[in-house]
Amino acid sequence: MNKILVTEKIAEKGIEALKASGMHVDVELGIERDKLLTIIKNYDAIVVRSVTKINEEFYQHATNLKVVGRAGNGVDNIDMEGATKRGIIVVNTPEANTVSAAEHTIGLLIASCRNIPQANTFIKNRNWDRSGFKGVELLGKTLGVIGLGRIGSLVATRMQSFGMKVIAYDPYITDERFEKFGVEKKEKLEDLVKEADFITVHTPKTEETLGMIGEKEFKAAKKGVRVVNCARGGIISEDGLVWGIKEGIVASAGIDVLVDEPNTTSPLLDLDNVIITPHLGADTVEAQNNVGVTIAHEVISALKGEMVPNA
Ligand code: MLT
Repeated sequence: MNKILVTEKIAEKGIEALKASGMHVDVELGIERDKLLTIIKNYDAIVVRSVTKINEEFYQHATNLKVVGRAGNGVDNIDMEGATKRGIIVVNTPEANTVSAAEHTIGLLIASCRNIPQANTFIKNRNWDRSGFKGVELLGKTLGVIGLGRIGSLVATRMQSFGMKVIAYDPYITDERFEKFGVEKKEKLEDLVKEADFITVHTPKTEETLGMIGEKEFKAAKKGVRVVNCARGGIISEDGLVWGIKEGIVASAGIDVLVDEPNTTSPLLDLDNVIITPHLGADTVEAQNNVGVTIAHEVISALKGEMVPNA
């Protein structure tokens, strides 16, 4: 009988779907790395989110592994080359949480530019003072979207309804797609950076995108630019962002992802105009049910040797 190990929280519906297949399912949330490396040889498949590192060290212990299920959008915690080399199938759920990620981006954008979390903390500490929390409107401002894929395009079209002009940089997207979303195409990242009042990133984390917004870009940006990163830690360089804020260039930042996660020591946590959530972009009832059930079906199909859409 195939054995499946789940190491990170997925929706109960997903666990039920895995069990309904008749395969053996173990759930070991937050498993210690050493224990994982010891037991993984007993499993045919593993289901992870973004914390479990599926790397060379892992593969060397995972001698019976056939399938890695990534319950979510990216695969940046998975060594894809290592999997291919060993004939291990990697499946993920690229569509299942896009709406939630887009909505969280917009939540961070609005909450950061209106100082909502700061004001909330202030009043809950039994203070009442309306000065010190003045924000800015979105109407008439320019939003720069970096990455006009599934999530970026949802953010772009939703923000147009706030009266924002949306510009985007994405060298991998056709002109037709820009036109379809009514988004002005910027050929160069620097052109977007110079023009945007708000910048939001929606790219995967790759060598090309890591640190693509950093000190150099902030030097070129408008004074008072506001940024959001609900994609992957480090696409907006953390050092660069600290620098931009201390220099008074970046007025606010909404951050959902950090380079090292879990993380309670980032210098960004000390900055008043940075609001941070602990990687919650996909954390809604709907997205987690979608992700959990989708990944369960994909892992089961892959183990049965059937066609899998997101392999
Ligand atoms: C994703 O890649 O879709 C998310 O980051 C997954 C998660 O929330 O762990």
